Amino acid sequence: MDDPHVNNDTNQQIISLEGIKIKQIKDEARQDPNQFWSDCAKNLVWFKEWQQVLDWNYPFAKWFVGGKLNAAYNCLDKHLTTKKKNQAAIIWEGEDGESVTITYNQLFRRVNQLANSFKRMGIKKGDRITIYLPMIPELPISMLACARIGAIHSVIFSGFSSQSIIDRVNDAKSKIIITADGGYRRGKIVPLKRIVDEAVKNTPSIEKVIVVKRTHEDLIMGENDIWFENLVNKESSFCPPEWMESNDPLFILYTSGTTGKPKGVVHGSGGYLTHLYISAKWVFDFNATDIFFCTADIGWITGHSYIVYAPLMHGVTEIIYEGAPDFPDPDRYWKIVEKHGTTILYTTPTALRSYMRYGNEIPNSYDLSSLRLLGTVGEPINPEVWKWYFDVIGKKNCPIIDTWWQTETGGIMISMCPGIENLKMKPGSGSFSLPGIEIEIVDDRGIKIEDGKKGYLTIKKPWPGMLISLWNNKERYKETYWQKAENSFFTGDFAYQDNDKYIWVLGRADDILKVAGHRLGTIELESAFVSHPSIAEAAVTSKRDKIKGETIIAFLVLRKEIQPTQNLSIEVNEHIKRTIGPIASAEKIYFVNKLPKTRSGKIMRRLLKSIVNKETIGDISTLEDEASIEEISHELDAINKQI
Ligand code: WTA
Repeated sequence: MDDPHVNNDTNQQIISLEGIKIKQIKDEARQDPNQFWSDCAKNLVWFKEWQQVLDWNYPFAKWFVGGKLNAAYNCLDKHLTTKKKNQAAIIWEGEDGESVTITYNQLFRRVNQLANSFKRMGIKKGDRITIYLPMIPELPISMLACARIGAIHSVIFSGFSSQSIIDRVNDAKSKIIITADGGYRRGKIVPLKRIVDEAVKNTPSIEKVIVVKRTHEDLIMGENDIWFENLVNKESSFCPPEWMESNDPLFILYTSGTTGKPKGVVHGSGGYLTHLYISAKWVFDFNATDIFFCTADIGWITGHSYIVYAPLMHGVTEIIYEGAPDFPDPDRYWKIVEKHGTTILYTTPTALRSYMRYGNEIPNSYDLSSLRLLGTVGEPINPEVWKWYFDVIGKKNCPIIDTWWQTETGGIMISMCPGIENLKMKPGSGSFSLPGIEIEIVDDRGIKIEDGKKGYLTIKKPWPGMLISLWNNKERYKETYWQKAENSFFTGDFAYQDNDKYIWVLGRADDILKVAGHRLGTIELESAFVSHPSIAEAAVTSKRDKIKGETIIAFLVLRKEIQPTQNLSIEVNEHIKRTIGPIASAEKIYFVNKLPKTRSGKIMRRLLKSIVNKETIGDISTLEDEASIEEISHELDAINKQI
């Protein structure tokens, strides 16, 4: 497991800033975890207290068993008796530069109206509602309205296609889809309602489609389509909250795994919200005057956890931005920071890499002095980019939190905690696990390995934000997360710990790609390629990319008598965009006669990855011992010639 990042001295330079001590909190968590998490949970408002902190029936964890609460109540109602009531909850910034401010009270009223509409439509606790919206206020409003009545939301990123909607809606058996007439992306209109119209031809469970007006397209409204405005305006602005058992599902979020079918990750409310509340306190150290800007899309877990639930529970004012970071100019985040006096910026290495490319002049021309804390998430950050973020954006005054976590973990697991600790930062390392979270790096056999060696990142003990299960698929849950390392949660990432115990996450160890921070499965992509009538077989791998981290490279075998042409390559890529979404388009397509496979038929993706990244392949026989080397080496030569 050699890796160029391991023990690289330049990565390990320590940058220190002042803070408070964390050790005591970690000790408390270790000595009595149940008491510790129970104290954390007391930050939430509970309708009924729990009888048991943790029911650990390996590998299923139930947190705060018997406790009852409501997620929307914790985000909204609790502020209505405080000064926050008429303060800004959301500052929404449109791609066209328009801004709208929504106070906690206004947000509360809108959420309650929609919740009442759901009830009028016959939606009950436990029913599923799919949300396919761009980054507009109706997206968090819809999620919170579901939470208010105990309906389970399933948000689909608005960059996904009709087919992706079909798969997710049919798995969840949702009754309603909420969408918009269109969404803006780089000045162009994405016809969301039309994409949904295509999908609903194949989603028998859908009874109604609710449509928000955003782009004011001319639409044909079918008999099951209802305008959002017409629906909610007549409703009362109070809907009693449904008190949910702590482990009742709050939402399903589909995410790519190592098979063709996306997994429906299920989170509850008691444990999940406790994890979010406390992690946000430690990591972001939220206070009453903060203006928090998380640039993620709510269609991914970062948006669910740290745009919708955590900041609203803390009563923070947050910015939600509708558009692309570089539209109309590559300065949009800096412009927003200046315009609204942002104090905390939480973004991705991909966004930073693309801004860095334009030089320092653009960010230097904005007043960024309101910033006090900078964060990143979603991919490893290269030390050069980290330093640029620290120097040019934070002017050497703002700590950087490199937060590692996953859809499955619910909330942040590894990060510096400016709220509670001395900050000795190493650019490129997330540093340590949060209090109460026990990380272990293990080898192929699940045995802990020594510091400095690369291995698999695992989590030793259940934690409150842990997924409850996979939707309708307990077996896959067990198999995916609990069978690779004994009694530990398998994250699928490679990592190592240096001599100071800092954790360095190196990227995925499985068939999952991170393209511009978006999570995509290679097998899911391969199935999409093979669904094109000209393609017989497909192998997908990734190539390192200076901006996006990774890009998609596809090796395709054509059906008999089909000739490889430039046009076919374009057509196949269009097919992928239609099948999965524009984020899945391939950087490069190679037409080959044969894919390198083992005798048992497994595609040697690791080998292809080494080739496209121009790494030394070494002895092929050690990679896949069943492989027929001679047979494939001829094909590899042909691929090499094309690259
Ligand atoms: C990767 C995103 C390095 C990792 C919140 C993980 C990171 C996957 C970091 C989960 C980080 C996330 N450093 N890698 N700070 N944060 N990752 O489910 O590979 O979209 O397993 O959740 O992103 O992606 P997901």
